[in-house]
Amino acid sequence: MVGTSVVADAGSGVGAGRSTPRNAATLTVSAKEDIAEGVVSLTLAHPDGTRLPDWTPGSHIDLVLPDGTVRQYSLCGDRWDPRTYRIAVLREPAGRGGSAHVHDRLRPGDRVGVGGPRNHFPLAPSEKYLFIAGGIGITPILPMVRQAELLGVDWQLLYGGRTRSSMAFQSELTATYGDRIHVVPQDELGLLDLAAWLGTPRPGTTVYCCGPAPLLAAVETACAAWPPYALRTERFTAAAQTAPVRDTAFEVELRRTGRTVIVTPDVSVLEAVRRAGADVLSSCEQGTCGTCLTPVLEGQPDHRDSVLADHERVANDCMFPCVSRSCGDRLVLDL
Ligand code: FES
Repeated sequence: MVGTSVVADAGSGVGAGRSTPRNAATLTVSAKEDIAEGVVSLTLAHPDGTRLPDWTPGSHIDLVLPDGTVRQYSLCGDRWDPRTYRIAVLREPAGRGGSAHVHDRLRPGDRVGVGGPRNHFPLAPSEKYLFIAGGIGITPILPMVRQAELLGVDWQLLYGGRTRSSMAFQSELTATYGDRIHVVPQDELGLLDLAAWLGTPRPGTTVYCCGPAPLLAAVETACAAWPPYALRTERFTAAAQTAPVRDTAFEVELRRTGRTVIVTPDVSVLEAVRRAGADVLSSCEQGTCGTCLTPVLEGQPDHRDSVLADHERVANDCMFPCVSRSCGDRLVLDL
């Protein structure tokens, strides 16, 4: 069973928006490095060396590109270094230009807008961890590995990728952690043997997985018999959704604004509340980045995001209005 379904673009360049994120700062690209085939890392620092906001493993930042496009990337550097952030960006030939800009145009010394950090993929306490990464999905997992090591917790990493040369950080991981790391390049060893790793639930073990959608689907299937919340995932793209619970209009009260709007089936809650004057920031507008998180005061949201875990959904105390709707006639939001 999936315990957490969390989404941020972890380096794949998906999830673009055009709103400037809350608390955006201007940082300088202090270093740019080719770290694997098709993957560059960027080191970001404040222009005057100021300390950056703290972050925890699983966090991501919003990178605001010069044309105003916003992309989310997982932080994969040293969380104990207070003055730099590090991200890794996969070139996506079929993307909409964000990763190409980072790869081809961004240079050391350039300035970029950065929002966050935010964490929708936090490392929960566990007796043991099994980390599973596919391709660029290694980025949020990397700080988790370091944290688990620091805590002295038993852990292993299963890391799959197309080819060894395309797998960022695999050499340093293997050199540092030895046989805790299981590197599986597909052209040498085939796909990850999930049946062997996940076929039998392991009490006390939490599985953290980030990677492309087929890997996440396979891991979810393989973990079907595991205890609730034993599997935590982070996606690059929005999870498939069924039809909304209701196909008719509903009412949304903006309690602080003092207005009520009717949300018709053809508009999102985000769009409707913005028209009513609410200032809600957004980025991906696909229910994946978590930027538009809005507190719910009354009513039952029809959660259609890929961020909240199952147990967070049933609390009905927040929603992502870019994609989520209402199960009932009325929602009251803290806007
Ligand atoms: Fe990304 Fe709503 S804007 S989740």
